Amino acid sequence: MKAKLWGGRFAGGLDPAFESFNRSLPFDHRLVQQDLTGSIAWAEALGAAGVLTAGERQKLSKALRALAQELAADPAPLHESDAEDVHSFVEAALRDRVGDLAKKLHTGRSRNDQVATDLKLWLRDAVADLDTGLHALMAALVALAHRYAELPMPGYTHLQRGQPITVGHHALAYVEMLARDRARLEDAAARMDTCPLGSGALAGTAFEIDRKALAGALDFAAATRNSLDAVSDRDHVCEVVFACSMVMVHLSRLAEDWIFFATFEAGFLQFGDAVATGSSLMPQKKNPDAMELLRGKTGRVAGSLQGLLMVLKGLPLAYDKDLQEDKEALFDAVDTTNACLRVAAVAVQHAEFTERCRTAAGRGYLNATDVADLLVAAGVPFRDAHERTGTAVRRAIEHGVEIEELPAEQLAELLPELGSDLRQQLAVETVLRRRRVVGGTAPQRVRAEVKAWQNKLTKQSNR
Ligand code: ARG
Repeated sequence: MKAKLWGGRFAGGLDPAFESFNRSLPFDHRLVQQDLTGSIAWAEALGAAGVLTAGERQKLSKALRALAQELAADPAPLHESDAEDVHSFVEAALRDRVGDLAKKLHTGRSRNDQVATDLKLWLRDAVADLDTGLHALMAALVALAHRYAELPMPGYTHLQRGQPITVGHHALAYVEMLARDRARLEDAAARMDTCPLGSGALAGTAFEIDRKALAGALDFAAATRNSLDAVSDRDHVCEVVFACSMVMVHLSRLAEDWIFFATFEAGFLQFGDAVATGSSLMPQKKNPDAMELLRGKTGRVAGSLQGLLMVLKGLPLAYDKDLQEDKEALFDAVDTTNACLRVAAVAVQHAEFTERCRTAAGRGYLNATDVADLLVAAGVPFRDAHERTGTAVRRAIEHGVEIEELPAEQLAELLPELGSDLRQQLAVETVLRRRRVVGGTAPQRVRAEVKAWQNKLTKQSNR
């Protein structure tokens, strides 16, 4: 029978089926560096509390640091070990190095406050990685918006063409979403900035640990204030996975927009060869697989969030083994989101919008709102203007032309208030230029927004 951290009370061994069912090392090995960092801080705290002598403290710290370096260079021992979890692994590895002294490190500590601390340390790095990925994708979208600040395309509501927009404006819509995602992660990181170590199994440690100093040593803003909450709180895991889910929802909306733009029917966009694939049967095909996978993986990340919430629902205080189920969901959600952010950035860098965007934006009565607005400017109440423009659209449809292409006598009859420069007034470029209000689609406005984003993103990457 393998040595367990809790063997004393037990006479018999584990059933092999339960043994592997119970193990978390196959996935929580990813917390090893965090576990070592936390253990070093705990050794220091025990030293300061007089539980360990200065010599013992130093010896433990030194061995833990060496272990951290060795495992960073070669993690093989982690994968070869049959330890129950990462905490047992570290203790066993420490025992190989410092013998019985290793047995003193767990004084006043539980795997419950240990794993809660490890997870928060891991999340701190995860949030930083996600932020880097979001920053890079935003930069790619801003570059795209810069390139296509003036290119008109049809804007849609209900997937029906509504008014012309610029391609740059469409790209910047996603930049806004991703900026909110970054803010959400930053907010979650600030809220999780409390250190659970010293909470013990559930009631708080019985040793004179300076928890404030311990929290500081691990770069937390403060110590947690309630041990029961501290060992069972996984709000931060949910918050980060929710933030990931929201990122994925945004990526999947971008994917869906672009998949549509790239259809033969729309023909607005061509994906680069770097992110498209062919068909094994149909030689002419170029498929938007990258976008489809972004869309598909959204379900997977949102599923992790749902899974986590269900694990926590109805969980009694304080720690329960159910909480071990938090890790795979979290790791998968973060890994998937990071990978999706990287691929999305590549797709954006390789996307080419076509001249068909311009042609499509110039036809199909997308300037009808502007006809009504011009009537309003000539003193017609908007409701009447709307009605009369509708009639003009109907007439134009009958003639198979655009409103501004109606024969002069028809225009004189239907829209007498409007001048002879109607073609110029209703040209797509003019229509776009009018929308220079803050938040509008005018090229001038898009260029200003691009500049503002470029400044913000440069500042953030210099942080
Ligand atoms: N592997 C466990 C987890 O991930 C560590 C904590 C175990 N604690 C316990 N009392 N069994 O939650």
